[in-house]
Amino acid sequence: MRFLILLGLAVSTVYTARAQFPAEQLRPYDYKIEKNITVPHGAVVSAHPLASRAGAQILQQGGNAIDAAIATQLALAVVYPGAGNLGGGGFMVAHLSNGKQLALDYRETAPARASRDMYLDSAGNPITTLSLDGHLAAGVPGTVAGIFAAMKYAKLPFATLIDPAILLAEKGFPITASEAANLNASKADFQRLNTAPTAFVKDQPWKEGDTLVQPDLAHTLKLIRKKGAAGFYEGETAANIVAEMKRGHGIMTLADLKNYKVRERKALSFNYKGYTIVTMPLPSSGGICLQQMMGMIENYPVAQWGFHSPRAVQLMVEVERRAYADRAQFLGDPDFVKVPVAQLTSKKYLTSRMADFVPGKAGNSETTKAGVLPESEETTHLSIIDDKGNAVAVTTTLNGHYGSRTIVGKAGFLLNNEMDDFSVKPGVPNMYGLVGTEANAIAPGKRMLSSMTPTIVLQQQQPLYALGTPGGSTIITSVFQMLMNTLEFGLSPADAINKPKFHHQWLPDEVAVEKDFPEEVITALQQMGYAIKKRGPIGRSEMIKRNPGNHVLDAAADKRGDDSAAGY
Ligand code: DON
Repeated sequence: MRFLILLGLAVSTVYTARAQFPAEQLRPYDYKIEKNITVPHGAVVSAHPLASRAGAQILQQGGNAIDAAIATQLALAVVYPGAGNLGGGGFMVAHLSNGKQLALDYRETAPARASRDMYLDSAGNPITTLSLDGHLAAGVPGTVAGIFAAMKYAKLPFATLIDPAILLAEKGFPITASEAANLNASKADFQRLNTAPTAFVKDQPWKEGDTLVQPDLAHTLKLIRKKGAAGFYEGETAANIVAEMKRGHGIMTLADLKNYKVRERKALSFNYKGYTIVTMPLPSSGGICLQQMMGMIENYPVAQWGFHSPRAVQLMVEVERRAYADRAQFLGDPDFVKVPVAQLTSKKYLTSRMADFVPGKAGNSETTKAGVLPESEETTHLSIIDDKGNAVAVTTTLNGHYGSRTIVGKAGFLLNNEMDDFSVKPGVPNMYGLVGTEANAIAPGKRMLSSMTPTIVLQQQQPLYALGTPGGSTIITSVFQMLMNTLEFGLSPADAINKPKFHHQWLPDEVAVEKDFPEEVITALQQMGYAIKKRGPIGRSEMIKRNPGNHVLDAAADKRGDDSAAGY
């Protein structure tokens, strides 16, 4: 460890001597995936090594964690087009070294011409392809507005932060094997859902190491560099978006774009056994569900039962069931619906929710529904901590992989299919199997309910962890498990994110487990009466631990993807 710190110090001296170095230092042709690093100053973990490197270089140039989060997000929009984005939305949660906390909401909104039943046929049946594929699936993008809202807390000039992304789009970079496979798998969709040629489609199949060059995207990024948010929401880019909508029978207008507003929300913060959990409030369901689940579990000695012990897993499944039942019933955009947040998270209510919990016996989503109150796959996450103790967690999304698969002609970026996160009809599951009610029905200008849960853990007001993950409905239960894995079961960040995960979301009433989940725990759960479903990987998490005392950072990138850590 001491050797690593000394090495880190030596490296940092070299970089400090160089001071400002140009974007070319990115060396796009020379990268490798780093799953775990230990560094003394600053660390970035994201879904792609070049994006993590772009962020880490910003830290080395004297930028803070917010600068790095902006640069990393912009780079992800280029090197990780399935989820990194200009045409989507996201949330940033931050704890700044001066004690200020941020919860920036740059979630997409429903266009003004959207309506409650827009995805139903004349018989009232849902046509979910419309909320998932192509022009009509896109909400008004929030990412660029979110980036400029974050600039208030940044130190470096915007041009410095966007230049790495411009370089990567303009000159290109070699793609990974998984990106090649994903682009090939989506080729037919790209052809079906676009009205203009795109950089993502070529005659021959993509293969690892092929260079992806995105000149249209570079042009859009340059407009943003020159004109700020207006380079996206007004002028040429906005006109390109609206022209694309006209060609593809979408409904987004110039006014929708011009009227888009970021909301600076109050971070949701709660206490768990002396730790302060700082996370995203509505329109993310993540923070509230996390507070509910941790509140329900707090009185049980789970650490004593042990990691992946059948008892602990069963209890976690049952608190997940209850939180997701409430999610479906009560949660939606707080600017449009009244959500009884204080009641849903009160200790008394959470204790009462566990009244029908029977240890060793599977609960049931028929009988355990939402509580009674006293009154009326694509997303990506990045975690950053800098040497001043600023901690940032950002989760950003196009919703499905490559979003709506529609690329704005001449502008080169993908549009989201976030409209599917609304409840298109009460009780009809969305692409993640989540159901909702009136609270999450479509209305013009409304934000669709999210599960994204960027989270920071504080101990004595100092950041201890920054974490988060994509994964649709599994985001909340993954963040919950990572918190339990570290705070209760004592796992390292790498183990906390990489050990097999499980998930229950009320409906369907089953426990989804990753393929490598321990067989003996599966058998024990089956004996208690649970239906178990094996599924593919859950999430792609990024977690940084800042060790109390020496402030050394352990940064861990999920084994499940190309995710990679960088730092100094
Ligand atoms: O906001 C949400 O909850 C979803 N749109 C997130 C989608 C997602 O995580 C896809 N990733 N695999």
